[in-house]
Amino acid sequence: MEAKSNTARIIRTFVRGYEVSGNRAEVWHLSDKKQWTCAKEAYEKNDNVLFAIPLYVENVPGIMLEFLETLQPKKEAGTKMSFILQGGFGEASQLRCGEAYLEMLPSYFNCEYNGTLIKGDNFGLSWVPEGMAEKMAAHYEKMGRSFAEKETFYKEEVNEFAAPEYFSEKEIRQYKYIGRWIQKALFNYIAKKNGCKKPLDDKPYQVK
Ligand SMILES: Cc1cc2nc3c(=O)[nH]c(=O)nc-3n(C[C@H](O)[C@H](O)[C@H](O)COP(=O)(O)O)c2cc1C
Repeated sequence: MEAKSNTARIIRTFVRGYEVSGNRAEVWHLSDKKQWTCAKEAYEKNDNVLFAIPLYVENVPGIMLEFLETLQPKKEAGTKMSFILQGGFGEASQLRCGEAYLEMLPSYFNCEYNGTLIKGDNFGLSWVPEGMAEKMAAHYEKMGRSFAEKETFYKEEVNEFAAPEYFSEKEIRQYKYIGRWIQKALFNYIAKKNGCKKPLDDKPYQVK
C-alpha cells in the first residue's frame, strides 16, 4: 500500500525538507499493522510526534483511530503532537472539520497541540508519472524545511499553503463546463486500469 499512498509520498517529501538542516525523523506506516509495535515505541520515546493523515469522508481514517486506541496518555507532559492532513478535493474548507478534531486530540494523550498542515488537491499524486508527482509534492519539501526552522505549523502559513478556502464562481463555472468532463474521463481511465469492467455511473440495482 505504501507504494501507492499519496500520504507516503507527502511524508517522504516533507521529511526530505525537514532533514536538510540535520534533523532526523523516524517514519512508520500505520496502514501496515505490522509496523504498529515500532510506531507505538516511537510515540512513547519521542517528544515530537507528527501524524500524516489522508482525509477519508471528511475526517481521519478508521485505521488511525484504531491505532490511537492502543496508545496510553504520556506520563509526563511536554510532548508536541503535530499533523499533516491531506485530501483529494481542492477546497481547504472541507479539511476544517478534520482539523478541528485534530486540535483537540493531543489533550487526550497528555500532549501539546503543535499545529496541522492541511491541503487538498492531492488525488492525482499516485496516478501521474514519477517526475510529475515529485513536482506536485515539492511544496511539502518547503514546508518540511519551514517546520524544522519554526518547530510548529503557524496558522497564517498553513492557510496560505492550503488555499483556496473555497473555489471562486469563475472556477466553479469552469469546472461545470470543462473540468468535470476531463475529470470523468480521467476517473474512467483509472478505473479501467484498476480492472473495473462497468461504467462508473453504472446502477446495477436500479429498478427498470
Ligand atoms: C474512502 C475515501 C474517502 C475519501 N474522502 C475524502 C474526503 O472526504 N475529502 C477529500 O478531500 N478527499 C477524500 N478522499 C481522497 C483522499 O483523501 C486522497 O486521495 C488522499 O490523497 C489519499 O491518500 P492515500 O493515498 O495515502 O490514502 C477519500 C478517499 C477515499 C478512498
